[in-house]
Amino acid sequence: MSEVERTFIMLKPSCLERGLVGEVISRFERKGLKIVQVKFLKMTRRMAEELYSIHRGKDFYEKLVRTLENKRVVAMILEGRKAILVARKIIGATDPVNAEPGTIRGDLAIDLTENLIHASDSLESYLREYKIFFKDEELETL
Ligand code: CMP
Repeated sequence: MSEVERTFIMLKPSCLERGLVGEVISRFERKGLKIVQVKFLKMTRRMAEELYSIHRGKDFYEKLVRTLENKRVVAMILEGRKAILVARKIIGATDPVNAEPGTIRGDLAIDLTENLIHASDSLESYLREYKIFFKDEELETL
């Protein structure tokens, strides 16, 4: 069975505001993950609520949704061997305080809500999350 899979990545507004888009994307490319599709877009409240639906009801939920609402993000699909796991290792722990040096959050972030980047944590999450941002026909091999 092929180990090649896809993952969904979203560069959060803080990543764009701080001018770190190129730096972050280059870390994935240097590792060997391929960009299948990438787009800039403005998040609606509804998209933010869908993306973070599993956190609805938690104390940080409203703050999290507000950091995305009406803000520009970069959404992308990466592909490669065990891409979901590999991307999360490159990104580092959710709380940048705990993220190892050498990871994106470990090197470039300190705030928990504004932790620069979101990545799918499982195949199930990927299949739910990418559909919020992309149509299947956009992801056909070009
Ligand atoms: P992300 O990987 O996008 O997934 C959920 C986000 O919730 C997480 O990154 C953080 O930005 C944010 N968040 C804020 N507070 C917490 C918390 N206490 N635990 C986990 N995630 C949190």
